[in-house]
Amino acid sequence: YRRNYAVDMTDFGMPESVMAFLARRPYASLYRVPGRINIIGEHTDYNEGWVLPAASSQQIWFAVEPSGVPELRITSGLFAETVALPVSDCLIRLDHWSRYFAAVLHTVAAHHLPVTGLDIHFNGDLPAGAGLSSSSAIMCGLLFLLNDQMEWGLDKMTIAVLARESEHRTGVKGGIMDQFAILHAEEGKALLLDCRTLEARSVVVPDSQWQWCLFDSGVPRQLVATPYNDRKASCDRVVKQAQAAGMSVTALRDMEESDLDNLSAHLDVADLIKAGFIIAENKRVQEIVSFLEQGLWNEAGTLLSQSHAGLRDDYLVSCPELDFIVSHLAEYPEVAGARMMGAGFGGCVLALMEKDAFNDVFSKLKPDYLAAFGRRLGVFPVEFSAGASKLR
Ligand code: GLA
Repeated sequence: YRRNYAVDMTDFGMPESVMAFLARRPYASLYRVPGRINIIGEHTDYNEGWVLPAASSQQIWFAVEPSGVPELRITSGLFAETVALPVSDCLIRLDHWSRYFAAVLHTVAAHHLPVTGLDIHFNGDLPAGAGLSSSSAIMCGLLFLLNDQMEWGLDKMTIAVLARESEHRTGVKGGIMDQFAILHAEEGKALLLDCRTLEARSVVVPDSQWQWCLFDSGVPRQLVATPYNDRKASCDRVVKQAQAAGMSVTALRDMEESDLDNLSAHLDVADLIKAGFIIAENKRVQEIVSFLEQGLWNEAGTLLSQSHAGLRDDYLVSCPELDFIVSHLAEYPEVAGARMMGAGFGGCVLALMEKDAFNDVFSKLKPDYLAAFGRRLGVFPVEFSAGASKLR
């Protein structure tokens, strides 16, 4: 159930195509970039609230060497395809995986950062469309390696902001959580991030008897094809109306549930319900940190389950497959709590459970899930890894 590529260069767990590239090009550089996990704080980042992300042990590897021509020649090990993008003025093909690379080149050009040609080979075990932010990992990874190869001297936060700008060029108006986590994460820890001030502190999540697990629904999605941007628009409408009503707020982060009552005459009730979810979710982020630090696992799990209920019933970003997994997990006393993770509309469920229960829970849930949806349930225990790094 577990695919875990070690960072040791001699470990055969590294994707073969990356090993083959390195064998042909002994002077190539090598970078590893993880995906994003989020314990809690969903859809709060673009509302200037709080999030509690970490980095996954699933990752993408980038092997890189100067090409001598003014192009990025990018080979995807996964798609077994090579694309050449001119370093200036390339086309963003929105229906193709190369859009993530092309969007970064546009961002870089807009900031007058010089780029010369590179051969890039990438591959990894970070699943696409599973809610682990593989697209952000690609964009963060490209910016991270360009910063190194081109000696721009940018810090990680600047790279994260440029990666978010690149994501916006692909049509998704996402927040900063994924990019922040992918670049800044620390091994074995989660990061409590204030998405307004961008101040963060690490939260040690001890795990002697408890285990975080991801259940992959196998329902793929691309955020640009979901109502993700509509959810952001709902939140923005509420803030605008609050400002029109004289409240001194700049984001939902500044509002209390009671503030919403005063706006009900002017706003669609569906927008108000969504705003209510964000306000409650921000509180859950603060609460869970104190529970986790005290080892109050069941209390932490209850917050996960509340978060899921809000994402399902109020924010309307879940789907039947995710709800099925969460409600079945709730039947096990060994499971403290579970919720859909990431933007929603598919992807993974994150659960907190007793370590010993893992195999038992999975072996029962898997056939039930297959019978209900005809889909294979993926599962992997979560390990919190470090953020993007250069290996050589
Ligand atoms: C996606 C976005 C993030 C965040 C989450 C939901 O992963 O990229 O910025 O909004 O959805 O919490």
